Amino acid sequence: MPSDLPISSGSASRSGFPIVRPRRLRATPLFRELVRETELSASDFILPLFVRPGSGIRTEIGSMPGNYQLSPDTLIAEVGQLRELGIRSFILFGIPATKDAEGRVALAEGGIVQQALRALRQAFGHSILLITDECFCEYTSHGHCGILQEVDGRTDVHNDATLPLLAEQCISHARAGADMVAPSGMMDGMVQAIRAGLDGAGFAHVPIMSYAAKYASGFYGPFRDAAESPPSFGDRTTYQMDPANSDEALREVELDLAEGADLIMVKPALSYLDIIRRVKDRFNVPIAAYNVSGEFAMVKAAAQNGWIDERRVTLEILMSIKRAGANMILTYHAPDAARWLKEG
Ligand code: PBG
Repeated sequence: MPSDLPISSGSASRSGFPIVRPRRLRATPLFRELVRETELSASDFILPLFVRPGSGIRTEIGSMPGNYQLSPDTLIAEVGQLRELGIRSFILFGIPATKDAEGRVALAEGGIVQQALRALRQAFGHSILLITDECFCEYTSHGHCGILQEVDGRTDVHNDATLPLLAEQCISHARAGADMVAPSGMMDGMVQAIRAGLDGAGFAHVPIMSYAAKYASGFYGPFRDAAESPPSFGDRTTYQMDPANSDEALREVELDLAEGADLIMVKPALSYLDIIRRVKDRFNVPIAAYNVSGEFAMVKAAAQNGWIDERRVTLEILMSIKRAGANMILTYHAPDAARWLKEG
């Protein structure tokens, strides 16, 4: 070691150097492991799955390599394999055979998500956790997240008329075996309406994971292909949040918690890590982050071009979401990440 270090100079004592040397605890893998603050594991992941009526269907989604539209039978085979990888939590999205202006087919006893829930429950019992996305954009002919109405000469989703339908959708899913419901439509009062509906139907034990801070985001592009749910006109900016806002996210979370949300979600994840952290610092509740389709597609596209190291970048991204404060991550990377974590 050089002998001329400025051991007692004024600036040295303020910085602590050379007494203080953070690199000491980075010197070996064992030291690094000992002081690691965040751990990732397959149990952190919730995998989105897309189900459509039929049999033998396994159609890869072009912009989301490794993700498929599945029919109930192939869904069971897929979930069986995913379970082997340690993935136990799933969120289901339905692509119905028909759509109408109100999305009524979403409420049907024999609807596609209801069918999938029953089939999965029968095949796997309670060894898997089944969450259902609660929204109407996949079921309405216009692709908006609820019933439309003229408001001040503008056609917009009618908030209060959509609420009872949402509650009905949740009850129907709970009846078919959903462990938890996840309303994603950003309607005011949706958590309260759903809580009252579930409680009244004998499902007081079913928790609500509210998409509390969901932004009107360009990162949902590939999902809208996967779920065949793009709005046929306009956009979702009258119900989803403005990406410029952060204080508003805290207010949305506060309201959803007051209405009875058990878990809250921030979505998307990567461009909103600051929101995850603010929510974490303010509220003492479990937080889910949705690492959305566009975030996934960017990584896949760059990896396929050989521009990034997919494994390294993916695990770094997932770690960053957890480090920001998420307790769980909805992610299409779940199968790859679970495999990599298993390999060590
Ligand atoms: C339904 C819904 C969407 C996503 C999840 N639930 C689409 C949207 O709001 O347009 C997006 C998920 C993703 O991009 O991975 N409202």
